[in-house]
Amino acid sequence: MPPRNHLLSKFLVLLSISHQMVDSFLVSANPEDIKFFLFPRAGNKTEIVCNNSTTLKNSSYLWGHPTVIIVHGYTDSNDDPLLTAMKDAYLATRPYINVIMVDWSKLSTPPIIPTPLTTLPGYVEVVLKIVDIVGERIACFIIWLNNEMVLEFNDVHIIGHSIGAHVAGETGKRVQYLMDGEKIGRLTGLDPAGPLFFPSAHGKSLARGDGHFVDVIHTNIGILGGKWAIGDADFIVNGGTFQPKCEIGDVIFLPIGFPGACSHMFANRIYTATLYKNFMACSCQVIGNLLKDRYCDPRCNNPVLVGADVSPWARGVFHIAGVQNPPLPQVL
Ligand SMILES: *[C@@H]1O[C@H](CO)[C@@H](O)[C@H](O)[C@H]1NC(C)=O
Ligand SMILES: *[C@@H]1O[C@H](CO)[C@@H](O)[C@H](O)[C@H]1NC(C)=O
Ligand SMILES: *[C@@H]1O[C@H](CO)[C@@H](O)[C@H](O)[C@H]1NC(C)=O
Ligand SMILES: *[C@@H]1O[C@H](CO)[C@@H](O)[C@H](O)[C@H]1NC(C)=O
Repeated sequence: MPPRNHLLSKFLVLLSISHQMVDSFLVSANPEDIKFFLFPRAGNKTEIVCNNSTTLKNSSYLWGHPTVIIVHGYTDSNDDPLLTAMKDAYLATRPYINVIMVDWSKLSTPPIIPTPLTTLPGYVEVVLKIVDIVGERIACFIIWLNNEMVLEFNDVHIIGHSIGAHVAGETGKRVQYLMDGEKIGRLTGLDPAGPLFFPSAHGKSLARGDGHFVDVIHTNIGILGGKWAIGDADFIVNGGTFQPKCEIGDVIFLPIGFPGACSHMFANRIYTATLYKNFMACSCQVIGNLLKDRYCDPRCNNPVLVGADVSPWARGVFHIAGVQNPPLPQVL
């Protein structure tokens, strides 16, 4: 990847570390504030509370069916239009699946004070303290559902965006630690957050081995996104750093005016699109830390599916080029 991206990433890390003092205690650290909502195909969402079997029985959870758990990122929530679209896409295209969204917005979203001193308010705190709390809570939730005999670990698929990807990794590690090496079936990282994770300030980030299969989609490498080649299969979209039609959005998308936000969100967009339509990727040769050719093999001798229906046997680094603006029914 171009050196300037690494520089920007280092700059962002320095920026957030220098704000450590003003960062503290802006967000909730209370695990009770982490909520699990089941979205049935028909009817309203219902909250399922960890260890409370009344809430499970009262929900329309499909016992023994695959369960997708969607985890948002920093300053985000379940109201995020692209994550809502992902949830709707699952409900529209996969009939016998449980779709759960984790709402940890009280822990992910500090009050934003728009001054130059608070470019990344609470980011350090969220990375160093909150990721563990949310990861642990999701692990507790999954282990409880397994104890209730409604879910097999192998049937769980956690999809996390940005810091949510590292939360998913933490959940996978906790489940293994608490359950004698049991692994969650699949973890998907959607542009896993870069600043403070690479290089890791605390030794924790989504990695291969956190679940039986770890796939990662990269859309803003070195800026808001992090390193590539961290999963079993890594997919680099449109060169991996800046996404089409994001030039303006990348400056103004978030209230904090953070560069890269539009490209960072593009991972959610493309993943959701793969629920409706197949997108193929070509494998890339990796030599040392570099992709041999940024656009890899254009003839694509052995293409693999990206996203929702990726083969759990896919291994290595893949590239998908020419994705313009994936069509999402009913959204944006
Ligand atoms: C869903 O919630 C709305 C508003 O609270 C309510 O009017 C409606 O009856 C609910 N639908 C079902 C199926 O429970
Ligand atoms: C749920 O129950 C388990 C097992 O009794 C316990 O270890 C855990 O702390 C409980 N968690 C919550 C959030 O109640
Ligand atoms: C379980 O949840 C129900 C519904 O929210 C609540 O009424 C009940 O008190 C809870 N039970 C426990 C043991 O917390
Ligand atoms: C049962 O689910 C309904 C929505 O389907 C919700 O309004 C109600 O509060 C739930 N009751 C309990 C005890 O969780």
